[in-house]
Amino acid sequence: MEFKIFDSYEEASKYSADLVANVLKDKKDAVLGLATGSSPEGMYKELIALYNKGEIDFSEVKSVNLDEYVGLDGSHHQSYRYFMDVNLFNHVNIDKKNTHVPNGIAADLQEGAKAYDALIESMGSVDVQVLGIGPNGHIGFNEPGEELLVHTHVADLKEETIEANARFFESKEEVPTKAVTMGVGAIMKSKKIVLIASGKNKAWAVQQMASDVITTKIPATLLKLHPNVTVVLDQEAASLL
Ligand code: F6R
Repeated sequence: MEFKIFDSYEEASKYSADLVANVLKDKKDAVLGLATGSSPEGMYKELIALYNKGEIDFSEVKSVNLDEYVGLDGSHHQSYRYFMDVNLFNHVNIDKKNTHVPNGIAADLQEGAKAYDALIESMGSVDVQVLGIGPNGHIGFNEPGEELLVHTHVADLKEETIEANARFFESKEEVPTKAVTMGVGAIMKSKKIVLIASGKNKAWAVQQMASDVITTKIPATLLKLHPNVTVVLDQEAASLL
């Protein structure tokens, strides 16, 4: 696991975008594993800028997102499908048919989860997986607990996650309490991982990633077993290292 620390979030975002862009330059039909939330927003802006400069091309790229809230359809402003469209897909030449986000409104969520794993499998492995990290160490919505699940599943969001995400909604009560999330299996199978963290509220989780411990109670610590992880940080997220 390599830690890269930058003075600002903007610089961290630029660096993360370069890591992803290099994958696209090497492989035109790369499979991108994507995350939503505040952490990768700057990186998506930089990727759009690189696309506008003609440095990268998304025409053959496929993407799979980590997660989606249960109960929100893609037109809801806080759905992760909507986030991806607005923050990246609408601004580059990716074919929307090649972009995949778990279905949070499937009639049968378990079947939907199974189908999502089959889809990922059919694409071959993810070439680069972008991750944020929860203040409690979650990755995707694989929350702290006694166990972690390998496959895509419906997860109950922890109280602290609901509180952290309430900033995007009118009130805490509106935050969905469940999400469909990739399991740790697909994340660990990806060829390369770029994890972005910024701000003081991530410093504890980042410190745990740098420690010698692996525990399901801090899911991101599992990433120590992955051979190619770059953790991209601003000064505040790195403040306990
Ligand atoms: C989002 C996701 C989550 C976030 C994490 C951090 O797709 O999988 O794990 O990466 O909750 O969120 P932000 O970046 O908003 O602090």
